[in-house]
Amino acid sequence: MTAAAAPLDTPWSPSSWKRRPAVQQPEWPDLEALDAVLSELSGLPPLVFAGEARSLTDSLASVAEGKAFLLQAGDCAESFSAFTADGIRDKLKIILQMSVLLTYGAGVPTVKVGRIAGQFAKPRSSPTESRDGLDLPSFRGDIVNDFAFDAAARRPDPTRLLRAYHQSASTLNLLRAFTKGGFADLTRVHAWNQDFVAASPEGRHYDAVAGEIERALRFMEACGIDLEKESQLHQVDCYTAHEALLLGYEQALTRQDSLTGGWYDCSAHFLWIGDRTRQLDGAHVEFLTGVENPLGVKLGPSSDPDELAALCDRLNPERVPGRLTLISRMGKDKVAEHLPPLLRAVQRADHPVVWACDPMHGNTFGHASGYKTRHFDDVMDELRGFFTACRDAGVWPGGVHVELTGENVTECLGGTEEVLGTHLEQRYETMCDPRLNARQSLDLAFQTADLLRG
Ligand code: PEP
Ligand code: CO
Repeated sequence: MTAAAAPLDTPWSPSSWKRRPAVQQPEWPDLEALDAVLSELSGLPPLVFAGEARSLTDSLASVAEGKAFLLQAGDCAESFSAFTADGIRDKLKIILQMSVLLTYGAGVPTVKVGRIAGQFAKPRSSPTESRDGLDLPSFRGDIVNDFAFDAAARRPDPTRLLRAYHQSASTLNLLRAFTKGGFADLTRVHAWNQDFVAASPEGRHYDAVAGEIERALRFMEACGIDLEKESQLHQVDCYTAHEALLLGYEQALTRQDSLTGGWYDCSAHFLWIGDRTRQLDGAHVEFLTGVENPLGVKLGPSSDPDELAALCDRLNPERVPGRLTLISRMGKDKVAEHLPPLLRAVQRADHPVVWACDPMHGNTFGHASGYKTRHFDDVMDELRGFFTACRDAGVWPGGVHVELTGENVTECLGGTEEVLGTHLEQRYETMCDPRLNARQSLDLAFQTADLLRG
């Protein structure tokens, strides 16, 4: 996959990324089988439509202007085995609950984007994993290979790309039904609170807010407003997003919009570039320059202010508001030092970006029990550091990007009903990084709404 870098002015095409070095790609053992799958994928229907991606860009433009807030949330990695209607419903419930808390608490609309319906591929710190003297390819997500540590399971298998596509299609189908078919109706705000959450302090706090919202709705009705007619109260837009990591897959789902002639990566509404793949002359940046979806870039502590300004120029030369979201993931101890120079560089270059914070990926550590985890207090520390840095720079703290699940898992430490180190083994179910459970997620939404109110 790697080749000499082409000059920056080479015309873009859906395959022009192939002339650049592409890091983090699997070593597919059978390239013919891969090509057959990619050609099949390129004939399958798009998962999302160009017009939807444009609507999301418009919504993100209001975030860039400081008039809305972005909530981006979901699994670290979706899995083939934990794929159920209930799991999707519960993830949507927690996203809806959080967005109600943010909107009600802070008085701004919440733009909802799931890490869902395509978030399968994972970048890895090493291409191989060794255990007891055996070296095997690292697990790169269910879209590439299997988690089990044996040679057959870890062999990259291109038929998994098709399975991921079909699972994404079913997930989206359900999401569309839930968000447009009555489930997300604001009059059901109480019903999103799950039983295991309802008895906790966050759950009770949520119920109190839900009660206030219901009273406000009854009040409006009593004033003669016909709530039935207000479609915003009965339906929501929940967009999809994933890391655009496997460029062959993304290319195969890229289509030219018949209305505008623009190219769109129709695997999701929003695509992001990970912290490990944001090289200015690399294949990932090249691919995403040419599609018109709204884009994200993850920024870790190695981000350089001048490089970031150049990256913004490259990904958004027309400075379209809403096109680019920068997602800071520095870690709680680094945000105060590393974020301000980046904020200033983007301000100086006059790029109308959304600034969001991923308070998860810079705060992961190995617990003595052997589990990889994060502490809720560290997550909140980084979020507070992000708000402070943005406010000091006169920048709107536009969003939060988190890994969560609607289930009652024990993967991240802390929270008011505290998950302790000894609890990690009870329900540690993630395929990759530890996720906030539903209670911790509500807690984060309450505290973020407080931060937004300033
Ligand atoms: C992720 O979002 O799961 C991820 C790998 O993030 P990052 O690129 O920020 O490390
Ligand atoms: Co992750």
